[in-house]
Amino acid sequence: MASRDEIKREITHLRQEIEKHNYQYHVLDDPLISDAEYDRLFRRLVELEKNHPELAAPDSPTQRVGAPPLERFATVRHTLPMLSLNNANDREEMEEFEERIRRFLKISEPVEYVVEPKIDGVAVELVYDQGRLSVGSTRGDGVNGEDITLNLKTIRSVPLTLRRAKRGVPRRLEVRGEVFLSRAAFQKLNREREEEGQPVFANPRNAAAGSLKQLDSTITAKRPLDIFCHGIGEAAGAHFKTHAEFLQALKEWGLKPVSSVRVCHSLKQIFAYHQEMERQRDELPYEIDGLVIKVNSLELQRRLGEIARSPRWAAAYKFKPRQATTRILDIQAQVGRTGTLTPVASLEPVPVGGVTVKSASLHNMDEVERKDIRVGDTVVVERAGDVIPYVVQVLQEKRSGREKKFTMPERCPVCGSTVYREEGEAAYRCTGLSCPAKLKESLKFFGSRGAMDIEGLGEKLIDQLVDRGLVTDIADLYDLDKTGLAGLERMADKSAQNLLDALEQSKNATLPRFLTALGIRHVGEATSKLLAHHFGDLGSIIEAPEEQLTEVREIGPEVAKSIARFFAQTNNRKVIGKLLKAGIRLKKEPKREGKLSGATFVLTGALEGMSRSEAQQRIEALGGRVASGVSRNTNFVVAGSDPGSKLKKAKELGVQVLEEKEFLKLIGA
Ligand code: IVH
Repeated sequence: MASRDEIKREITHLRQEIEKHNYQYHVLDDPLISDAEYDRLFRRLVELEKNHPELAAPDSPTQRVGAPPLERFATVRHTLPMLSLNNANDREEMEEFEERIRRFLKISEPVEYVVEPKIDGVAVELVYDQGRLSVGSTRGDGVNGEDITLNLKTIRSVPLTLRRAKRGVPRRLEVRGEVFLSRAAFQKLNREREEEGQPVFANPRNAAAGSLKQLDSTITAKRPLDIFCHGIGEAAGAHFKTHAEFLQALKEWGLKPVSSVRVCHSLKQIFAYHQEMERQRDELPYEIDGLVIKVNSLELQRRLGEIARSPRWAAAYKFKPRQATTRILDIQAQVGRTGTLTPVASLEPVPVGGVTVKSASLHNMDEVERKDIRVGDTVVVERAGDVIPYVVQVLQEKRSGREKKFTMPERCPVCGSTVYREEGEAAYRCTGLSCPAKLKESLKFFGSRGAMDIEGLGEKLIDQLVDRGLVTDIADLYDLDKTGLAGLERMADKSAQNLLDALEQSKNATLPRFLTALGIRHVGEATSKLLAHHFGDLGSIIEAPEEQLTEVREIGPEVAKSIARFFAQTNNRKVIGKLLKAGIRLKKEPKREGKLSGATFVLTGALEGMSRSEAQQRIEALGGRVASGVSRNTNFVVAGSDPGSKLKKAKELGVQVLEEKEFLKLIGA
């Protein structure tokens, strides 16, 4: 039996280790251990704390999973008010900003600025007392905010205790930052909500705000929120000369400073950076809506002070707006793969930030009713990065009275089957078993990269195949032949042969890919892999009762139900039977042991001999793992032509780099 002291020591050690790995992963983007190892540490800590409740602590990383729901948020008064920024909308207004600074300081020499992206998220303040996170709050009205400490604690990039930096830790530190949701996380969240019939969020900012407003922090914990810190409130016992130095200190304390920061010495440099970032805007994984220009010297900041709740030493230099006003010409229901009917507005074409927008998703009927969107309405539309344009609001004052309300059709606009709405769900669904719209979406999904990867099976071709009755279910794809394809538009002999070859090739799919390709609700690539590894073959999955499915790690009751329901349908079984008869081989799920067992690979650049997904399959078949980023845990980086920054990182970390030839040899190809 371990003594109490030993247990206490182990708990302390685990907490430190886990927080260190959180920092490596979420702040430095440089993980030192695998996810599985991290999970092991975490589970051990949970177990120890469960058995020794007297040793629990509010700053234990286990607290990040959330706490019992609150009845309401308490109010927090900010020690120093959280100010807002004056906008500079163009170069001229930036010139005025600089001019004001010069006039106020009575200087003519250049001023040094720090330029940061303006993160489109939710402003928060974190307070650390003696290095421990004591309170986290929203901005509120700038003077009083809401106490959302429990919710902020769920964010992995928010340290629960500050790291002991060389410069020491201030007695009290108030840090301001922006909580946000990456675009990818936002889209995933909305897809899930759409499938579950819940109202979707209009944009990542609303999703982040909604997540932070949860009284139940276990809900917040499920949203992969992140933070960028960019400002300082009170900092008793910390001394900096410049804002840049403060950002550096944040990192040393374990906080995550805003990235893509540049020090500029002239307006010219600021303009150039503005242009550069506006171009790169869509490539960033999160939303930004401009730059924030800050005087670097804290002494000058102090002298400049503030006016009307905004600092004189900073300005928001916005990008071109990505909103525009236009008219709704029509609203129609579009049928998706799962039969969901989505109302889509056709718009009078309008340029929005360099792209002509012709349609906007209205998401679901709840949205249409909440925003009271009607055909003929003048609306504000917004395009956010790679997100589908959406209607922000209706301009009620532009109504003539002739606008028409939209109602969901009672019958599917494509196949005429009845449409139903499940109790408590926002979504309407088409009930038609063989609805062509559903079929087209299913085919598109079946052939997609993460699924059966059938090159050449594009949207136009699918339209023709379905409209001409050549394909009535996914299995029919494998009955296609040259004669059938010959009559189609844009289908020369060569492309027909290529398609047939791709179909033939796809018969070698692995079980997880095949499962993904079936398009079962809630079953994506990750769940398919879990199922395949757990059961080993298709037959066992098809026959598994719901309870048995929930035994698979990470598969919950809802997903289990969806899988069981899918395989219970006679028609689905029939189609699967046809697919197998057509010659889909479903290679037995390779055992996880092989000559590459335990090895982690990262792929970069293009390989000549095979696609990336094929390389990944080969590695996994031999027991290896493919990760997306290079870390000290990476064993091999496979570098094709035009390798990216991953190669550089590999060299820095001394990770072994394989050229394509060496890689092929290693995998025995
Ligand atoms: S500094 C006193 N830096 O924009 C100025 N703010 O309208 C404090 N924001 O509520 C703000 N990114 O939450 C600053 N890099 C950044 C920012 C940023 C986003 C938000 C901030 C504030 C709003 C200002």
